[in-house]
Amino acid sequence: MTRKWKAWSIRGIAVPILLLGSAVFAQAQESLLERDVLPILTKQCLGCHGGLRQKGGLDMRTVPAMLKGGKSGPAVKSHDANASELWKRIQADEMPPGEKKLSPAEKAHIKQWITRGLPTVAKSQKDDDPILKAGQKHTPKEVAAAIDQHLNKALASARLKAAPRSEDGEFLRRVYLDLTGRVPTAEQAVAFLDSKDQDRRAKLIDTLLATPRFGEHLGRTWRDWICPPELPSDGNGGAQPHKQAQNLGKWLGERFAAGDSWAKITRDIITVDGQINNKPQVIFFGLVGQGGRLTADGAARAVGSLFLGVQLQCAQCHDDPYRDWSQKEHWALAAFFRKITGDFNKVSEGKAGGAAKNITQITIPNSAFKNVGTTVNAAFLKGKVLSVKKDEALRPHLADWLTAKDNPYFARAFANRMWFYFFARGIVNPVDDFRALNPPTHPGLMKLLANEFGAADFDVKHLIRCICNSDAYQRTSRVQGKFNEHDLAALTMAFGRMPLRVMTADVLFDSLKLAYGDPGLDLRAIESKGSSTAGMSAPVADAYLEFLRRFGTNKEDATDFTHGIPQMLTMINHPRLLAGSRALDSHRKRKPAPTSAQTVEWLYLSTLSRRPTSEEHAEAARYLAQTKESYIGVLWMLVNRSEYLLVR
Ligand code: HEC
Ligand code: HEC
Repeated sequence: MTRKWKAWSIRGIAVPILLLGSAVFAQAQESLLERDVLPILTKQCLGCHGGLRQKGGLDMRTVPAMLKGGKSGPAVKSHDANASELWKRIQADEMPPGEKKLSPAEKAHIKQWITRGLPTVAKSQKDDDPILKAGQKHTPKEVAAAIDQHLNKALASARLKAAPRSEDGEFLRRVYLDLTGRVPTAEQAVAFLDSKDQDRRAKLIDTLLATPRFGEHLGRTWRDWICPPELPSDGNGGAQPHKQAQNLGKWLGERFAAGDSWAKITRDIITVDGQINNKPQVIFFGLVGQGGRLTADGAARAVGSLFLGVQLQCAQCHDDPYRDWSQKEHWALAAFFRKITGDFNKVSEGKAGGAAKNITQITIPNSAFKNVGTTVNAAFLKGKVLSVKKDEALRPHLADWLTAKDNPYFARAFANRMWFYFFARGIVNPVDDFRALNPPTHPGLMKLLANEFGAADFDVKHLIRCICNSDAYQRTSRVQGKFNEHDLAALTMAFGRMPLRVMTADVLFDSLKLAYGDPGLDLRAIESKGSSTAGMSAPVADAYLEFLRRFGTNKEDATDFTHGIPQMLTMINHPRLLAGSRALDSHRKRKPAPTSAQTVEWLYLSTLSRRPTSEEHAEAARYLAQTKESYIGVLWMLVNRSEYLLVR
């Protein structure tokens, strides 16, 4: 999902994994193209019969191309393997040429696929009715109900039983983390847990969406998608552009908080003109540059991945060997950016000069390897060619097309990413690889969300409100009863259960700052004070040093590390977390003075967003008696529990 910035090295190219989530729901026992056949063709055939080479005139990337065939005519004849050139060559072990032949099992899959009439996952998903009428906006409750109808139908057909609804505490914590990027305070938790309002969940969603923190958090989420964690430093005088990335996050955050539509935000990014100092979105172009200069093709690939949900990176130098994207399509999109000039710090629309017809053309440069020197006209992806009458800016034309209500890519790309954000898995995966042979797991649901987002004028809060009000979002992540790993994975993939997610660094830090009442909390502080890893056990010390080496080098940003195991290990045992909490101190100073049990309850509420059980109360009491009332010890234990560190 992360975008790569450097030119792809040929050696590093691996055969893409075309394993599909949709396979989970494909009940048919027959061989399906995407699940059973394409992986074989990709590995064994497409190198010579794909976008890069078409030996014998044959392209096998899509069914229409196979039906068209090569020099000997159609490669496949539906229902008739023996009349299919493709099968004949495989059966006779003529293809692939060379030592490695297909195994009997692989051959059986291909033969059966032809005999059964070329079935595909996409075709076996007959039900792509979005349920709600396209072209009109619905209430969040209606959309949420339709989301559940889609998912429940798929669950039933796969004979999977959805997990029950979460308890209030679980929901509360999840929705705070997802919508505001930190756990609720003890007071916020109490207010919700003690509420008798039937509609309290929907109301809480509304309340959180109205806070500036909602924007802030979604802003930094999108910041990380636009500016992947390993930012290139070559465009910025060798320094990693963290500050500029943070400014982009803030800018996006203000937009999201103000309720700006995704169409407006997108337009403001791709048509930006100016300096990075006062237009933070300039970093979008800065990151796709090379050697300090902006590049048109880099911009096209980023637009593809982020706003269209398609991967164009393998079509830069040659037609994509595996996907149905041509090099020409890639450069036709790049042509919209042919006039941009600037460097990491600024972007502007230069003068193209020349006759009107040349204004929209780009020449494929040497770095692209194939078709170097060919001119390509600006054209919308799989759409019409751009025509302009005079020397005018081209990017606004791209923005118009992109954000038009009938654009087939724009709404679904955003909706799928937001779904991914909440469920840790897209309806299409990878989230930026939409194409005919990578179908969604739930086609009707994908349509529903894209329709609704478009009909609501790309209103981000509306889309999120719809998703969060669904039963699917509100299910428990707790595993009920006995499950083998396979069934559990299937249930999670089918969105029948909330997956456990690891808190991102930002979220963990903001939550800790709250629990410790310290807005300047910095877990790297012990390094700057010159102390060592003394007192840490060996694996923890190793993990800690690794953590500092990899993630703790940015002086400007204490949250600048990626999540994962090293982060978790670093937290455990971190001396700062035992050194006192201002929030706890001020709680203890309250009048009337809280009892020991009240403080324990307060600590549970401010970390785990729930009240302690009676066993937990007893356990805490024992610990406090032994440690002369070390409340900070209780806090430390709570923030080190997996219940705290995970989004559940
Ligand atoms: C190393 C390159 C290479 C690979 C890999 C390869 N082929 Fe070929 N294929 C060729 C060449 C060269 C020809 C043209 C010469 C010929 O017809 O034998 C060809 C021709 C064909 C033809 C006939 C096309 C026509 O219309 O005349 C078919 C069908 C075919 N290949 C199928 C396959 C299948 C199926 C695979 C994978 C299992 C495969 N090939 C893998 C090189 C390759
Ligand atoms: C910067 C240019 C560039 C990009 C980007 C690029 N390729 Fe290539 N690719 C090449 C060149 C050059 C060759 C060599 C072609 C030849 O030998 O005819 C090649 C060859 C290949 C081959 C054939 C290898 C073989 O052994 O025959 C495959 C497969 C391939 N690329 C896949 C990809 C995929 C997948 C991507 C995207 C992840 C990609 N390429 C992106 C330049 C590129």
